[in-house]
Amino acid sequence: MSILIRGAVVLTVNDNQEVIEEGDVVVEGQTISYAGPKREWQTSFARVINGRGKLLAPGFVNAHGHAAMTLLRSFADDVPLMYWLEKRIWPVEARLKREDVYWGTLLAIVEMLRSGTTTFTDMYFFMTQVAEAVEESGIRGVLARGLVGVGQQAEKGLEESEQFITRWQDEAAGRITTMLGPHAPYTCPPAYLQKVMRLQEKLNVPVQIHLAETLEEVRRIKEQYGLSPVALLKETGLLERPVIAAHCVHLSSEDIDIMRDYEVHVAHNPGSNLKLGSGIAPVPEMLERGVVVGLGTDGAASNNNLDMLEEMRLAALLHKGSRQDPTVITAHEALQMATKNSARAVFLNDVGMVAAGMKADLIMLDLHKPHLTPRHDLVAHLVYAAQPDDITLVMVDGKILLENGELTTLDEEKIMFQAQERAMHLVREQTEI
Ligand code: NI
Repeated sequence: MSILIRGAVVLTVNDNQEVIEEGDVVVEGQTISYAGPKREWQTSFARVINGRGKLLAPGFVNAHGHAAMTLLRSFADDVPLMYWLEKRIWPVEARLKREDVYWGTLLAIVEMLRSGTTTFTDMYFFMTQVAEAVEESGIRGVLARGLVGVGQQAEKGLEESEQFITRWQDEAAGRITTMLGPHAPYTCPPAYLQKVMRLQEKLNVPVQIHLAETLEEVRRIKEQYGLSPVALLKETGLLERPVIAAHCVHLSSEDIDIMRDYEVHVAHNPGSNLKLGSGIAPVPEMLERGVVVGLGTDGAASNNNLDMLEEMRLAALLHKGSRQDPTVITAHEALQMATKNSARAVFLNDVGMVAAGMKADLIMLDLHKPHLTPRHDLVAHLVYAAQPDDITLVMVDGKILLENGELTTLDEEKIMFQAQERAMHLVREQTEI
């Protein structure tokens, strides 16, 4: 089926930052076959969508998160990371059932589609249920079974990872890719990371890990190994593999050099880092040295939403404020971070841009809004002023998943009902203990 989207302003996010004032985008099957100036077409299309007065952009790629943590949204706020994890989050997560993860992930997907995300990255457990949610919803997912290298779950996690990756890599018509997900250096000691690396060699998928998120982590790792978390991962050999590291808040200049030299990709999570009081990642320095930096929301328990529009805005504002320099992280850079660079960061080379040959993962926004008037600079509008409600169309892999406010593949009311019931049940158990 071929679709023509006619006459929209197209933010291509290509290497030339090209903006097509009155553009045509043609989608054939899963792929964009044309993205350029409006022209006369001799061919007929199964559907023509009027794009006049609309802004068309690549869908957002959420480079780091834990989708089913939507169930813990607003459950534990305003506390530090280690307390948050050890006293609040982990005890509840230990009781999660596979159905909880399924409904929590669907809730996350509803929220992400409504705010223009077309690819999300997930590190969690019961990943079969996550993959099923991806398959049913039509969204694109980069999925990893989270691994903790101590306790009873350590070996089981490796086995489940292998089964999951073997079963689901490139499934759902290619919309699912997989990774190995060792949680962090402080939960996965070097001997365990060696096992992860052996599995990585066998399965040939990238690795995602939380890294240098808090000063407390850096202190613990230095005390134990005499190295920074980044240097420790270099020592273990992990950085010789394709790696995306989430957070990377507390880095020395040497750490950034290591990351550049080993081409470690980064998921920047400004909302989560601010909320957990973790600090401010040295993103301008990483970008200056050529590190690939994408953007992620992290889980809804530490954000507390999964809105990449807000995350772009935070990324652009945070570094200006902390440096007292309004020229760092421009709107263009923030948009690239949320699209093209996030795609690169999660090792996808065919999404994140509106260009012929790319997968048709697109969003369209209605520009006829007071907060988007007048139209001096539409990139600035998208980053600094746009709202999820402005999004009128979301397409993933050539299929329309949201149109005129309605989701086409998911029963939103049922998902919210299930998520509410399950979340309350989980919390009730917590307070009974
Ligand atoms: Ni995380």
